[in-house]
Amino acid sequence: MASGWARGPARLTGRAGIRLILAIETSCDETAAAVVDGPEVRSSVVASQARLHTPYGGVVPEVAARQHLGTVNAVVDEALDAAGLALDAVDAVAVTQRPGLIGALLVGVATAKALAYGAGKPLVMVDHLHGHICASWLEPLALDPPFVSLIASGGHTRLDLVDDYAEPRLLGSTLDDAAGEAIDKGARTLGLGYPGGPALERLAADGDRKAFEFPVGLAGRTDADFSFAGVKTALLYAVRDLGEQEVGRRRADLAASYQEAVVRPLAQRLVGAAVDAGVPAVALGGGVAANGRLRALTAEFAEPAGVAVAAPDRALCTDNAAMIGAAAQFTPPLSWPRYAGADAMATSPPGGIAA
Ligand code: KG4
Ligand code: ZN
Repeated sequence: MASGWARGPARLTGRAGIRLILAIETSCDETAAAVVDGPEVRSSVVASQARLHTPYGGVVPEVAARQHLGTVNAVVDEALDAAGLALDAVDAVAVTQRPGLIGALLVGVATAKALAYGAGKPLVMVDHLHGHICASWLEPLALDPPFVSLIASGGHTRLDLVDDYAEPRLLGSTLDDAAGEAIDKGARTLGLGYPGGPALERLAADGDRKAFEFPVGLAGRTDADFSFAGVKTALLYAVRDLGEQEVGRRRADLAASYQEAVVRPLAQRLVGAAVDAGVPAVALGGGVAANGRLRALTAEFAEPAGVAVAAPDRALCTDNAAMIGAAAQFTPPLSWPRYAGADAMATSPPGGIAA
Protein backbone atom coordinates (compact mmCIF):
# COMPACT_ATOMS: atom_id res chain seq x y z
CA MET A 1 0.00 0.00 0.00
CA ALA A 2 1.35 3.42 -0.95
CA SER A 3 2.69 5.59 1.84
CA GLY A 4 0.59 8.48 3.09
CA TRP A 5 -2.62 6.50 2.71
CA ALA A 6 -4.73 6.05 5.80
CA ARG A 7 -8.13 4.41 6.01
CA GLY A 8 -10.54 5.12 8.76
CA PRO A 9 -11.19 8.27 10.68
CA ALA A 10 -11.21 10.64 7.72
CA ARG A 11 -14.84 10.32 6.73
CA LEU A 12 -15.51 13.63 5.13
CA THR A 13 -11.99 14.81 4.59
CA GLY A 14 -10.59 12.44 1.97
CA ARG A 15 -6.90 11.86 2.32
CA ALA A 16 -4.47 14.53 3.40
CA GLY A 17 -1.67 15.32 0.96
CA ILE A 18 -3.50 14.59 -2.28
CA ARG A 19 -6.50 16.80 -2.84
CA LEU A 20 -5.87 18.83 -5.98
CA ILE A 21 -6.53 16.28 -8.70
CA LEU A 22 -6.83 16.15 -12.47
CA ALA A 23 -9.27 13.32 -13.18
CA ILE A 24 -10.07 11.59 -16.48
CA GLU A 25 -13.05 9.38 -17.33
CA THR A 26 -13.46 7.47 -20.63
CA SER A 27 -15.21 4.23 -19.62
CA CYS A 28 -18.14 4.47 -22.02
CA ASP A 29 -19.35 7.22 -24.34
CA GLU A 30 -18.43 10.40 -22.46
CA THR A 31 -14.93 11.85 -22.70
CA ALA A 32 -14.59 13.70 -19.41
CA ALA A 33 -11.95 15.54 -17.41
CA ALA A 34 -12.22 17.53 -14.19
CA VAL A 35 -10.17 19.29 -11.58
CA VAL A 36 -11.25 18.80 -7.98
CA ASP A 37 -9.76 20.36 -4.88
CA GLY A 38 -10.87 18.16 -1.99
CA PRO A 39 -14.68 18.09 -2.28
CA GLU A 40 -14.75 21.26 -4.39
CA VAL A 41 -15.27 20.87 -8.15
CA ARG A 42 -12.98 23.43 -9.79
CA SER A 43 -13.93 22.37 -13.32
CA SER A 44 -15.81 19.52 -15.00
CA VAL A 45 -15.84 19.05 -18.75
CA VAL A 46 -17.91 16.33 -20.44
CA ALA A 47 -17.81 15.75 -24.20
CA SER A 48 -20.66 13.38 -24.95
CA GLN A 49 -20.41 11.02 -27.91
CA ALA A 50 -24.07 10.00 -27.60
CA ARG A 51 -25.07 11.49 -30.99
CA LEU A 52 -22.32 9.57 -32.71
CA HIS A 53 -23.84 6.28 -31.53
CA THR A 54 -27.50 7.22 -32.11
CA PRO A 55 -27.70 5.70 -35.61
CA TYR A 56 -26.60 2.32 -34.17
CA GLY A 57 -29.10 2.34 -31.27
CA GLY A 58 -26.33 1.82 -28.69
CA VAL A 59 -22.65 2.43 -27.99
CA VAL A 60 -20.29 0.90 -30.57
CA PRO A 61 -17.11 0.09 -28.59
CA GLU A 62 -14.60 0.66 -31.39
CA VAL A 63 -16.22 3.95 -32.39
CA ALA A 64 -16.18 5.06 -28.73
CA ALA A 65 -12.47 4.29 -28.30
CA ARG A 66 -11.49 6.15 -31.48
CA GLN A 67 -13.58 9.16 -30.52
CA HIS A 68 -12.00 9.29 -27.03
CA LEU A 69 -8.60 9.22 -28.69
CA GLY A 70 -9.43 12.26 -30.81
CA THR A 71 -11.01 14.24 -27.96
CA VAL A 72 -9.28 13.44 -24.70
CA ASN A 73 -6.35 15.87 -24.92
CA ALA A 74 -8.60 18.83 -25.72
CA VAL A 75 -10.98 17.89 -22.88
CA VAL A 76 -8.08 17.68 -20.41
CA ASP A 77 -6.74 21.06 -21.56
CA GLU A 78 -10.20 22.60 -21.19
CA ALA A 79 -10.59 21.23 -17.65
CA LEU A 80 -7.18 22.62 -16.60
CA ASP A 81 -7.90 25.99 -18.28
CA ALA A 82 -11.32 26.28 -16.64
CA ALA A 83 -9.70 25.60 -13.27
CA GLY A 84 -6.99 28.16 -14.03
CA LEU A 85 -4.24 25.61 -13.42
CA ALA A 86 -1.26 24.11 -15.19
CA LEU A 87 -0.68 20.35 -14.90
CA ASP A 88 2.36 21.03 -12.69
CA ALA A 89 0.08 22.46 -10.00
CA VAL A 90 -1.97 19.32 -9.32
CA ASP A 91 -1.09 16.79 -6.61
CA ALA A 92 -2.03 13.73 -8.68
CA VAL A 93 -3.65 12.47 -11.86
CA ALA A 94 -6.63 10.11 -11.47
CA VAL A 95 -8.30 7.93 -14.08
CA THR A 96 -11.13 5.42 -14.41
CA GLN A 97 -9.47 2.01 -14.55
CA ARG A 98 -12.62 -0.17 -14.58
CA PRO A 99 -15.32 -1.33 -15.30
CA GLY A 100 -16.28 -0.36 -18.85
CA LEU A 101 -15.50 -0.81 -22.53
CA ILE A 102 -11.92 -1.98 -22.59
CA GLY A 103 -10.83 0.03 -25.65
CA ALA A 104 -12.44 3.18 -24.25
CA LEU A 105 -10.83 2.68 -20.82
CA LEU A 106 -7.42 2.10 -22.41
CA VAL A 107 -7.46 5.58 -23.97
CA GLY A 108 -8.04 7.24 -20.59
CA VAL A 109 -5.51 5.06 -18.77
CA ALA A 110 -2.78 5.59 -21.41
CA THR A 111 -3.44 9.35 -21.40
CA ALA A 112 -3.36 9.56 -17.60
CA LYS A 113 -0.16 7.52 -17.39
CA ALA A 114 1.55 9.78 -19.92
CA LEU A 115 0.43 12.95 -18.10
CA ALA A 116 1.43 11.59 -14.68
CA TYR A 117 4.81 10.42 -15.94
CA GLY A 118 5.54 13.64 -17.81
CA ALA A 119 4.66 15.82 -14.82
CA GLY A 120 6.18 13.51 -12.20
CA LYS A 121 2.86 13.04 -10.37
CA PRO A 122 1.35 9.98 -8.71
CA LEU A 123 -1.46 8.19 -10.53
CA VAL A 124 -4.69 7.05 -8.89
CA MET A 125 -6.57 4.19 -10.58
CA VAL A 126 -10.26 4.54 -9.76
CA ASP A 127 -13.25 2.20 -10.06
CA HIS A 128 -16.08 3.91 -11.98
CA LEU A 129 -18.73 2.61 -9.55
CA HIS A 130 -16.75 3.91 -6.58
CA GLY A 131 -16.80 7.22 -8.45
CA HIS A 132 -20.61 7.21 -8.71
CA ILE A 133 -20.80 6.67 -4.93
CA CYS A 134 -18.26 9.40 -4.15
CA ALA A 135 -20.21 11.94 -6.25
CA SER A 136 -22.23 12.42 -3.03
CA TRP A 137 -19.07 13.52 -1.22
CA LEU A 138 -18.63 16.49 -3.55
CA GLU A 139 -19.88 19.93 -2.62
CA PRO A 140 -22.50 21.27 -2.31
CA LEU A 141 -24.02 17.92 -1.25
CA ALA A 142 -21.01 16.80 0.88
CA LEU A 143 -22.95 13.87 2.33
CA ASP A 144 -21.54 12.44 5.55
CA PRO A 145 -21.74 8.62 6.03
CA PRO A 146 -23.38 6.38 7.03
CA PHE A 147 -25.89 6.04 4.18
CA VAL A 148 -27.11 3.53 1.64
CA SER A 149 -26.11 4.30 -1.94
CA LEU A 150 -28.00 3.35 -5.09
CA ILE A 151 -26.05 3.20 -8.32
CA ALA A 152 -28.39 2.82 -11.27
CA SER A 153 -26.57 3.22 -14.56
CA GLY A 154 -26.49 1.74 -18.04
CA GLY A 155 -24.30 -1.17 -16.97
CA HIS A 156 -24.93 -1.58 -13.23
CA THR A 157 -27.61 -1.50 -10.58
CA ARG A 158 -26.54 -2.01 -6.97
CA LEU A 159 -27.02 -0.95 -3.38
CA ASP A 160 -24.04 -0.35 -1.09
CA LEU A 161 -23.81 0.45 2.57
CA VAL A 162 -21.38 3.35 2.95
CA ASP A 163 -19.94 3.69 6.45
CA ASP A 164 -16.75 5.07 4.98
CA TYR A 165 -16.28 6.35 1.42
CA ALA A 166 -13.11 4.26 1.22
CA GLU A 167 -14.99 0.99 1.74
CA PRO A 168 -18.53 0.74 0.34
CA ARG A 169 -20.07 -2.65 1.13
CA LEU A 170 -22.30 -4.36 -1.43
CA LEU A 171 -25.84 -5.10 -0.18
CA GLY A 172 -27.46 -6.29 -3.39
CA SER A 173 -27.47 -5.90 -7.16
CA THR A 174 -29.41 -6.74 -10.28
CA LEU A 175 -29.64 -10.40 -11.17
CA ASP A 176 -30.00 -9.65 -14.89
CA ASP A 177 -30.30 -6.30 -16.71
CA ALA A 178 -29.20 -2.96 -15.28
CA ALA A 179 -31.97 -0.39 -14.73
CA GLY A 180 -30.48 1.92 -17.37
CA GLU A 181 -30.26 -0.94 -19.84
CA ALA A 182 -33.96 -1.71 -19.24
CA ILE A 183 -34.77 1.97 -19.73
CA ASP A 184 -32.74 2.23 -22.93
CA LYS A 185 -34.23 -0.99 -24.37
CA GLY A 186 -37.76 0.05 -23.36
CA ALA A 187 -37.22 3.43 -25.00
CA ARG A 188 -36.09 1.67 -28.15
CA THR A 189 -39.20 -0.54 -28.13
CA LEU A 190 -41.25 2.68 -28.03
CA GLY A 191 -39.36 4.08 -31.00
CA LEU A 192 -37.24 6.56 -29.04
CA GLY A 193 -33.58 7.00 -29.96
CA TYR A 194 -30.42 6.22 -28.01
CA PRO A 195 -29.75 7.16 -25.25
CA GLY A 196 -33.29 6.47 -24.16
CA GLY A 197 -33.46 7.70 -20.57
CA PRO A 198 -34.08 11.43 -21.03
CA ALA A 199 -36.41 10.81 -24.02
CA LEU A 200 -38.44 8.23 -22.07
CA GLU A 201 -38.74 10.62 -19.14
CA ARG A 202 -39.97 13.44 -21.42
CA LEU A 203 -42.57 11.18 -23.06
CA ALA A 204 -43.67 9.75 -19.69
CA ALA A 205 -44.40 13.26 -18.41
CA ASP A 206 -47.56 13.34 -20.58
CA GLY A 207 -48.68 9.81 -19.70
CA ASP A 208 -50.61 7.97 -17.02
CA ARG A 209 -48.29 5.77 -14.97
CA LYS A 210 -51.23 3.58 -13.89
CA ALA A 211 -52.48 2.93 -17.43
CA PHE A 212 -50.57 -0.34 -17.79
CA GLU A 213 -49.59 -2.73 -15.05
CA PHE A 214 -46.09 -4.00 -15.78
CA PRO A 215 -44.56 -6.64 -13.52
CA VAL A 216 -42.04 -5.55 -10.89
CA GLY A 217 -39.03 -7.90 -10.77
CA LEU A 218 -38.59 -9.97 -7.54
CA ALA A 219 -41.82 -8.39 -6.27
CA GLY A 220 -42.23 -10.83 -3.40
CA ARG A 221 -38.72 -10.42 -2.05
CA THR A 222 -37.59 -8.03 0.63
CA ASP A 223 -33.84 -8.21 0.04
CA ALA A 224 -31.68 -5.73 -1.86
CA ASP A 225 -31.52 -7.46 -5.26
CA PHE A 226 -33.23 -6.35 -8.48
CA SER A 227 -34.45 -7.86 -11.74
CA PHE A 228 -35.45 -5.94 -14.86
CA ALA A 229 -35.53 -8.62 -17.56
CA GLY A 230 -39.24 -9.40 -16.99
CA VAL A 231 -40.51 -5.85 -17.29
CA LYS A 232 -38.60 -5.36 -20.52
CA THR A 233 -40.22 -8.45 -22.04
CA ALA A 234 -43.64 -7.39 -20.74
CA LEU A 235 -43.34 -4.08 -22.61
CA LEU A 236 -42.36 -5.94 -25.78
CA TYR A 237 -45.47 -8.14 -25.52
CA ALA A 238 -47.72 -5.18 -24.70
CA VAL A 239 -46.51 -3.31 -27.78
CA ARG A 240 -46.97 -6.41 -29.96
CA ASP A 241 -50.49 -7.06 -28.64
CA LEU A 242 -51.67 -3.45 -28.87
CA GLY A 243 -50.73 -3.07 -32.53
CA GLU A 244 -49.08 -0.14 -34.24
CA GLN A 245 -52.01 2.29 -34.24
CA GLU A 246 -52.92 1.83 -30.59
CA VAL A 247 -49.26 2.01 -29.54
CA GLY A 248 -48.99 5.30 -31.45
CA ARG A 249 -52.00 6.65 -29.54
CA ARG A 250 -50.87 5.43 -26.12
CA ARG A 251 -47.10 5.87 -26.27
CA ALA A 252 -47.02 8.35 -23.38
CA ASP A 253 -49.07 6.00 -21.16
CA LEU A 254 -46.78 3.10 -22.07
CA ALA A 255 -43.70 5.22 -21.28
CA ALA A 256 -45.08 6.43 -17.93
CA SER A 257 -46.17 2.96 -16.82
CA TYR A 258 -42.90 1.39 -17.92
CA GLN A 259 -40.78 4.06 -16.23
CA GLU A 260 -42.79 3.53 -13.05
CA ALA A 261 -42.16 -0.25 -13.11
CA VAL A 262 -38.41 0.34 -13.39
CA VAL A 263 -37.94 3.13 -10.86
CA ARG A 264 -40.41 1.99 -8.17
CA PRO A 265 -38.37 -1.04 -7.00
CA LEU A 266 -35.22 1.12 -7.05
CA ALA A 267 -36.76 3.67 -4.69
CA GLN A 268 -38.50 1.08 -2.52
CA ARG A 269 -35.49 -1.18 -1.98
CA LEU A 270 -33.12 1.72 -1.48
CA VAL A 271 -35.18 3.16 1.35
CA GLY A 272 -35.92 -0.34 2.71
CA ALA A 273 -32.19 -1.09 2.87
CA ALA A 274 -31.54 2.14 4.81
CA VAL A 275 -34.26 1.27 7.31
CA ASP A 276 -32.89 -2.27 7.69
CA ALA A 277 -29.34 -0.98 8.18
CA GLY A 278 -30.51 1.71 10.60
CA VAL A 279 -28.81 4.53 8.68
CA PRO A 280 -30.32 8.01 8.41
CA ALA A 281 -29.85 8.71 4.69
CA VAL A 282 -29.86 7.36 1.15
CA ALA A 283 -27.97 8.68 -1.87
CA LEU A 284 -28.87 8.41 -5.55
CA GLY A 285 -26.16 7.89 -8.16
CA GLY A 286 -25.60 6.78 -11.74
CA GLY A 287 -27.28 8.05 -14.89
CA VAL A 288 -30.77 6.80 -13.98
CA ALA A 289 -30.57 8.97 -10.83
CA ALA A 290 -31.08 11.93 -13.16
CA ASN A 291 -34.68 10.70 -13.51
CA GLY A 292 -37.20 13.04 -11.87
CA ARG A 293 -39.73 10.31 -11.10
CA LEU A 294 -37.06 8.21 -9.32
CA ARG A 295 -36.11 11.25 -7.24
CA ALA A 296 -39.73 12.04 -6.36
CA LEU A 297 -40.61 8.44 -5.53
CA THR A 298 -37.53 8.02 -3.33
CA ALA A 299 -38.57 11.10 -1.37
CA GLU A 300 -42.10 9.69 -1.09
CA PHE A 301 -40.87 6.43 0.45
CA ALA A 302 -38.19 8.08 2.57
CA GLU A 303 -40.25 10.81 4.23
CA PRO A 304 -42.50 8.59 6.40
CA ALA A 305 -39.49 6.39 7.24
CA GLY A 306 -37.56 9.41 8.54
CA VAL A 307 -34.78 8.84 6.01
CA ALA A 308 -33.06 11.78 4.28
CA VAL A 309 -32.54 11.68 0.51
CA ALA A 310 -29.34 13.00 -1.03
CA ALA A 311 -29.32 13.44 -4.78
CA PRO A 312 -26.28 15.01 -6.45
CA ASP A 313 -26.83 17.50 -9.21
CA ARG A 314 -27.90 15.69 -12.39
CA ALA A 315 -24.58 16.48 -14.08
CA LEU A 316 -22.78 14.62 -11.28
CA CYS A 317 -25.13 11.60 -11.59
CA THR A 318 -24.44 10.90 -15.26
CA ASP A 319 -20.85 10.02 -16.18
CA ASN A 320 -18.34 12.74 -15.36
CA ALA A 321 -14.74 13.00 -14.16
CA ALA A 322 -15.36 15.05 -10.99
CA MET A 323 -16.73 11.91 -9.32
CA ILE A 324 -13.50 10.10 -10.32
CA GLY A 325 -11.49 12.89 -8.65
CA ALA A 326 -13.64 12.43 -5.55
CA ALA A 327 -13.12 8.64 -5.38
CA ALA A 328 -9.39 9.19 -5.98
CA GLN A 329 -9.24 10.83 -2.57
CA PHE A 330 -10.34 7.54 -1.03
CA THR A 331 -8.02 5.33 -3.12
CA PRO A 332 -4.30 4.59 -2.62
CA PRO A 333 -2.19 6.49 -5.17
CA LEU A 334 0.51 4.73 -7.18
CA SER A 335 3.88 6.31 -7.80
CA TRP A 336 6.20 5.59 -10.74
CA PRO A 337 7.10 2.83 -11.64
CA ARG A 338 4.25 1.02 -9.89
CA TYR A 339 1.56 2.46 -12.12
CA ALA A 340 3.43 1.38 -15.27
CA GLY A 341 2.01 -2.11 -14.82
CA ALA A 342 -1.52 -1.06 -13.79
CA ASP A 343 -3.91 -1.54 -16.69
CA ALA A 344 -7.50 -1.00 -17.72
CA MET A 345 -9.96 -3.77 -16.77
CA ALA A 346 -13.36 -4.48 -18.29
CA THR A 347 -14.86 -5.54 -14.94
CA SER A 348 -14.38 -4.76 -11.25
CA PRO A 349 -12.67 -7.51 -9.25
CA PRO A 350 -15.01 -9.77 -7.24
CA GLY A 351 -13.53 -8.34 -4.04
CA GLY A 352 -15.25 -4.99 -4.47
CA ILE A 353 -15.14 -1.59 -6.07
CA ALA A 354 -12.77 0.25 -3.71
CA ALA A 355 -9.01 -0.26 -3.87
O1 KG4 B 1 -24.01 6.40 -15.32
P1 KG4 B 1 -24.30 6.60 -16.76
O2 KG4 B 1 -24.23 8.02 -17.30
O3 KG4 B 1 -23.37 5.71 -17.65
C1 KG4 B 1 -23.04 4.39 -17.26
O4 KG4 B 1 -22.11 4.25 -16.45
O5 KG4 B 1 -23.75 3.49 -17.77
O6 KG4 B 1 -25.75 6.00 -17.02
C2 KG4 B 1 -26.32 5.95 -18.31
C3 KG4 B 1 -27.75 5.47 -18.18
C4 KG4 B 1 -28.41 5.23 -19.53
O7 KG4 B 1 -29.07 3.99 -19.50
C5 KG4 B 1 -29.39 6.39 -19.65
O8 KG4 B 1 -30.52 6.11 -20.45
C6 KG4 B 1 -29.77 6.59 -18.19
O9 KG4 B 1 -28.55 6.45 -17.50
N1 KG4 B 1 -30.37 7.92 -17.97
C7 KG4 B 1 -31.63 8.11 -17.55
C8 KG4 B 1 -31.84 9.51 -17.53
N2 KG4 B 1 -30.68 10.12 -17.91
C9 KG4 B 1 -29.78 9.12 -18.17
N3 KG4 B 1 -32.60 7.22 -17.22
C10 KG4 B 1 -33.79 7.73 -16.85
N4 KG4 B 1 -34.08 9.05 -16.81
C11 KG4 B 1 -33.14 9.98 -17.15
N5 KG4 B 1 -33.43 11.27 -17.11
ZN1 ZN C 1 -21.61 5.50 -14.95
